[in-house]
Amino acid sequence: MSPHFIQQLLDKTPPALVPTQPVTLRVNGQDHTLHIAPWTSLLDALREYLNLTGTKKGCDHGQCGSCTVLVDGQRINSCLALATVYQGKAIQTIEGLGSADNLSPLQQAFIDHDAFQCGYCTPGQICSAQGLINEGRAKTADEVRELMSGNLCRCGAYTNILSAVMEVLCDGKVVVDNGTLVTIPAQPTAASSVN
Ligand code: FES
Ligand code: FES
Repeated sequence: MSPHFIQQLLDKTPPALVPTQPVTLRVNGQDHTLHIAPWTSLLDALREYLNLTGTKKGCDHGQCGSCTVLVDGQRINSCLALATVYQGKAIQTIEGLGSADNLSPLQQAFIDHDAFQCGYCTPGQICSAQGLINEGRAKTADEVRELMSGNLCRCGAYTNILSAVMEVLCDGKVVVDNGTLVTIPAQPTAASSVN
């Protein structure tokens, strides 16, 4: 390398540091102040800065739903969301829905119905299902299918995912077995079974 070339390299201005700004995010009930570039997605803020890796990055283009989280109870694709926009909002991830000792009804239902294989899509599926239940719009299996259609499962566990969501949506009164709705007969109460 010639001395002239080396001098040229030394004379170059070093690249500017990435500009950051402080952002306070309320995630799963706790405030976290981060210093992030303004273009950081909410997904990257959760995974890379807060180590909340339950939320998954699939396509990073808003097309698979694996990054679904809840903001003020509504589901969003966190890969398409700028973290700075969500200051002051209540952000909930799969880690905030339940704990290992105290699973949320949907988390338990996914286990009971064997509603996953590799599990990569599962946190997004569960957050999306929780958002769907919060919305109160879906009443039937077809409506659940339609309103969960933004959540893809490469393993094709859709039938069991539907069963799990329907069980929680219908408060345990209805399950879906291989796509067919099955109504669970009312169980006799303690009082009625005495006689
Ligand atoms: S990673 Fe966000 S929709 Fe696929
Ligand atoms: S369980 Fe593997 S992608 Fe859905």
